[in-house]
Amino acid sequence: MFEDRIRCAALRGKITSAADAARLVRDGMIVGASGFTRAGDAKAVPLEIARRAREESDPLRITLMTGASLGHDTDRLLTEAGALSRRLPFQVDTTLRRAINRGDVMFVDQHLSETVELLRANRLGKLDIAIVEAVAITENGGIVPTTSVGNSASFAILAEKVIVEINLAQPLALEGLHDIWIPERRPQREPLPIVRAHDRIGVAAIEIPPEKIAAIVITNTPDSASTVLPADADTALIAGHLIEFFQHEVSRGRLPKRLPPLQAGIGTIANAVLSGFAASPFEALTIYSEVLQDSTFDLLDSGKATFASGASITLSGARQEKVFGELDRYRDRLVLRPQEVSNHPEVIRRLGLIAINTALEADIYGNVNSTHVGGTHMMNGIGGSGDFARNAAYAIFATKSVAKDGRISSIVPMVPHCDHNEHDVDIVVTERGLANLTGLAPRERAMNVIQNCAHPLYRDLLRDYYRDAAALGGHTPHRLDQAFSFHTRLAQSGSMLP
Ligand code: COA
Repeated sequence: MFEDRIRCAALRGKITSAADAARLVRDGMIVGASGFTRAGDAKAVPLEIARRAREESDPLRITLMTGASLGHDTDRLLTEAGALSRRLPFQVDTTLRRAINRGDVMFVDQHLSETVELLRANRLGKLDIAIVEAVAITENGGIVPTTSVGNSASFAILAEKVIVEINLAQPLALEGLHDIWIPERRPQREPLPIVRAHDRIGVAAIEIPPEKIAAIVITNTPDSASTVLPADADTALIAGHLIEFFQHEVSRGRLPKRLPPLQAGIGTIANAVLSGFAASPFEALTIYSEVLQDSTFDLLDSGKATFASGASITLSGARQEKVFGELDRYRDRLVLRPQEVSNHPEVIRRLGLIAINTALEADIYGNVNSTHVGGTHMMNGIGGSGDFARNAAYAIFATKSVAKDGRISSIVPMVPHCDHNEHDVDIVVTERGLANLTGLAPRERAMNVIQNCAHPLYRDLLRDYYRDAAALGGHTPHRLDQAFSFHTRLAQSGSMLP
């Protein structure tokens, strides 16, 4: 049974049902589960945990850590069952988001490169159980992940016990795509030896003592399809502004003709912007990112990109079938790494990345809010955007200039929550234009952002705000009595417009 999937014969006796495996999880435990942006998530055991919490009388509330967001409504089902006391480091689920904003689930919004670093240093408690989806277990008991590596390797290494979900719906051809490399404990750590996006520095499977594998569950469910929407006129304009900007940088000799590696964040805007590079004059692009979305495969397929490195592959339904059906076509052009490697500050700084992430809103000085609607309500989380923005050569934040049919301006006087401060943000871009803030003082930044990025509906309001603030003086002028006037108007009247 499953000889090709569980090649370590001694482990075949560990095959059990999801229900039995879920019994290993007890109230109060810290559980680390695979899954990164809907890819490679454990699909059976977490749902059994939810069922137990819902149907059984014994309390069952856990801390759940993952790579990033999960598919298959897992976060919704766990939330509805009351099974989550604490969740980190990222999520995108509407039901969980509401529970977080009610204060029912304690959500730790964390840089994605940091979770296992903190775990390894014993600063987040002891991981009781890891639940890891795999395509196979090797002869030596090595776990071969599926469509994401995320935090799976360190979860398996650091946990007391490991449950492996062998997913028959994930093609065995995934084996060999992964590059598992785990840093030494600090401070005795050597440099991370990636000097080009395609460098392989580790091994193809997660190596742990086989006796730590406490249960193996067989599943047969594909990843949830990605939910990003196709490019539209605004995202095409954003991509156009960026491509024009990069051409300008090349013509001035600030960037080589062959651009440094690109990173693009999650979501519709970043995906659409990256797709826009297919129609650009740039050739031989490389991607050093965390989530490889449809856009990455657009670029690989069109020959515009030569290589893509990420922590997960998250695709729309049709694209999943195509890519996973012909993985051999991509084998030499793809690598999947642990997220602490894909998002590692050292590599991002060394490679001189162009990092394109999305803002909910930016202020006139270039501070960016990517996470908190109205400054208080969690949307998804910072994800890897901070890992990349702080260390990239070009830290770019894209957003449409307005949201909710113009009732919200994405350019505001002051952001009510700051994920990426002005020191980390080089460029703000909307469909209206691009503000290059590099080397500018706050007073220069303000006019640049207002002129180039704000929607005409809000430009005069922002100019008036800045004029009055500047009259009060200061290096970064503000009128603190008016700094959140856009947000208070929205809360009172449903629109930021007077
Ligand atoms: N205030 C309130 N809501 C806003 C808003 C604002 N200033 N700006 C956008 N929104 C709403 C949109 O209306 C949309 O709502 P809907 O889902 O009801 O239609 C939603 O936010 C998503 O916005 P959209 O413009 O479609 O962009 P997106 O899908 O690219 O997502 C983020 C944008 C910021 C939510 C998303 O990129 C994110 O979570 N980023 C943080 C994590 C990250 O950057 N990771 C990158 C490394 S992987």
